[in-house]
Amino acid sequence: MTGVRFYQFMKKKSQNKILVFGGAGFIGSKFVDMAVSKHYKTYVIDSLTYASDLERISHVMNDISFFKIDINNKKEVLKFFLKNDFDYVVNFAAESHVDRSIDGSDIFVKTNINGTVNILEGIRRKKVKNYIHISTDEVFGSLGKNSPKFNELTRYDPKSPYSASKAAADHLVKAWHTTYGIPVIITHSCNNYGPWQLIEKFIPLSISKALTNQNIPIYGSGKNIREWIHVDDHCKALFEIMLNGRVGERYLIGSGEEFCNIELANIICIYLDKVKPKKESYKKLIKLVQDRPGHDFRYSLNSNKIKKLGWKKEINFKSGIVETIDWYIRNEKWWKKKIKKGFNLRVGLGEKK
Ligand SMILES: NC(=O)c1ccc[n+]([C@@H]2O[C@H](COP(=O)([O-])OP(=O)(O)OC[C@H]3O[C@@H](n4cnc5c(N)ncnc54)[C@H](O)[C@@H]3O)[C@@H](O)[C@H]2O)c1
Repeated sequence: MTGVRFYQFMKKKSQNKILVFGGAGFIGSKFVDMAVSKHYKTYVIDSLTYASDLERISHVMNDISFFKIDINNKKEVLKFFLKNDFDYVVNFAAESHVDRSIDGSDIFVKTNINGTVNILEGIRRKKVKNYIHISTDEVFGSLGKNSPKFNELTRYDPKSPYSASKAAADHLVKAWHTTYGIPVIITHSCNNYGPWQLIEKFIPLSISKALTNQNIPIYGSGKNIREWIHVDDHCKALFEIMLNGRVGERYLIGSGEEFCNIELANIICIYLDKVKPKKESYKKLIKLVQDRPGHDFRYSLNSNKIKKLGWKKEINFKSGIVETIDWYIRNEKWWKKKIKKGFNLRVGLGEKK
């Protein structure tokens, strides 16, 4: 065997295998991208719902093995696990939009809860080093303006069908760990932003509305507060947790950067005024609309535990949001295709009188 072939043989042999569920989604695709660049042998499962887009991972398609499987299809999921072995399994697959969960909860219950159980049942039949379950900060409910931040011991108090389905899944993950000894870690990140996010979500929705000269809808008074993390920082934190986190525990992943929605819409408009000036400021497009039912006021995370693993955020919101807005300006074609398909609709909204 030549030196090069021996090196390639050894590299393949030592490669850890990682299985990513929901790898064609916004966060999952970034994680897949990082896994490939870190030389993991990467497998991706996604059922390709409206929220997916294979374009997000087209640049690594030759380096991964992709399988179109619905996690709600228990037989298929179990068959897949029986045929393959993995070191790590990471699950991003979920229905992820709160507004849609208010409009119709069935698919949220099905995918986020039953789909998770199907994955757990698959893992139960195998030996994996770690199963990373991607939950959300929303399972902890709502904070007041000056309440202390959520931490790893905060009691669950979900308010929307989305967050309740995610909370239920977390309990099942914990139960499969306790009962069957599956190595699991649950992660709760704050709101993610960055390139490739579907334009039904707040930041890309605001950018795309502004760029198409339409009203930028903001729920209620616009005072609701969210903590925002760049998707790259979130995925880096997930690798840290996957490799060095304590099995059976949970980690909160926050950036420490909180903004109320109206403030955030203004930041976007001020930047657009600078780089794509019009006669009137983009701020004129901001419109308060009727609040959504059960709208949590504030999420805020204490990230001390993940910081102890050596992780810290690298992208400040100020630079991250500029990079993100620039990306949406450059990639108008991508998101305009989504508008045509109606993916910029925020369900159940009426304009405030
Ligand atoms: N986006 C955020 O700000 C945020 C914050 C905290 C936690 N999370 C969690 O992170 C995860 C990923 O979020 P996202 O924003 O990337 O979501 P997303 O909606 O962009 O992607 C979800 C992916 O899962 C796939 N999927 C959905 N149902 C499936 C099924 N039945 N079988 C197989 N695949 C299926 C979709 O096709 C899509 O590719 C979710 O679990 C979400 O709850 C998201």
